[in-house]
Amino acid sequence: MRLNDEERAILSGREGPAAQKALEIVAALGEIYRAEDLIPVVSAQVAGVSYGNLGEAGLEFLRAWADEGARVVVPTTLNPAGMDLQAWRELGIPEEYARRQLEVVEVYRTMGITISCSCTPYLAGNLPGFGHHIAWSESSAVSYANSVLGARTNREGGPSALAAAITGRTARYGLHLDHNRQGHLVVEVGCPLGSPADFSALGYMVGQMATDRVPYLRLNSGPEPGLDELKALGAAMAASGAVALYHVEGLTPEARSHNMLASGATVINIDSLDESYQALDGTSQDIDLVWIGCPHASLAEIEHTADLLAGAQIEAELWVTTARDVLETASAKGLTGRIEACAGRVVADACLVGAPLGEMGFRNIATNSTKGAFYLRNHSHLQVRFGSLAQCVEAATRGRWPA
Ligand code: F3S
Repeated sequence: MRLNDEERAILSGREGPAAQKALEIVAALGEIYRAEDLIPVVSAQVAGVSYGNLGEAGLEFLRAWADEGARVVVPTTLNPAGMDLQAWRELGIPEEYARRQLEVVEVYRTMGITISCSCTPYLAGNLPGFGHHIAWSESSAVSYANSVLGARTNREGGPSALAAAITGRTARYGLHLDHNRQGHLVVEVGCPLGSPADFSALGYMVGQMATDRVPYLRLNSGPEPGLDELKALGAAMAASGAVALYHVEGLTPEARSHNMLASGATVINIDSLDESYQALDGTSQDIDLVWIGCPHASLAEIEHTADLLAGAQIEAELWVTTARDVLETASAKGLTGRIEACAGRVVADACLVGAPLGEMGFRNIATNSTKGAFYLRNHSHLQVRFGSLAQCVEAATRGRWPA
């Protein structure tokens, strides 16, 4: 792989050990994937924030890198933590967990990273343009950036995204190259899709079939999906498969401007979402906690939740997770107040996967996200119900999953 003079100097240690280590990581990936050279990135999104996932070893690794002088050189945002960084006490987060989580965030702050703590950086100020090269981790954000924004990123891991942020570069391979962005799996969708939960269910099925191929979807009925539907679709595909890019014919930007279909692509038909609903919806009747906002809720989703609550007092806990920027706008518009008046909460900074939910006594969770359902069941070992936002809000008001 070709390196320019500046890159060779960084690799020799001229910019210090932290930058040297970062370039070693970026260059090693380039060698593995046979990249020709490195390319500048305009932004990074770093995952690996929740203390529940990182643990002590992860925190030590980050602290050592920061102590060596690791500092980012491009705008860099951060994935969710395991708790709201301000309201963690009110949410009942254990003190020791919170202390360690705040330490993780402080290390990232030292590195110059914006403490956005969201998996929807594109709703919180990190909005790359069409064709921009970026280095993002967090699979749902990667999918959105590639597919809906037309930016270019591979599915970076936390350390490789951080290395790209420190060097301002990534290796030119994978989805940075035109020919890898073509669709190889045509998905003819015949069933109507009514809600983001339906798009999430569809994405879950497509991801399982696509694995790491680029799906090219034809939506043959129903209204055109918007931001929330596409966000749910991509997050689900990225969770059940390794899909980092998809196209929707006539809608997503590359599929509007170019022929993104590879010749000889396999064609599959999906005429029912039952398989996804059955796979992810459990059997528990009692619900302790309803989780909306995986990926983090948009303003429209917060408003829709407030509308569905319609002033009713809830029986189960209801947490709507979102980016802090979005929470502040929601508060200014009175949406947070409407949800809190029903005893629900709008929670910033947090992802509930990796949060100490079991320790806090939660057993039965309802969500409208297949990604959330998949990880809560398989990672956090909780009982999960999966359904539409309306079903989830009803479950919150009754403390039971609707019949
Ligand atoms: Fe975001 Fe966590 Fe869901 S990172 S996509 S809220 S699993």
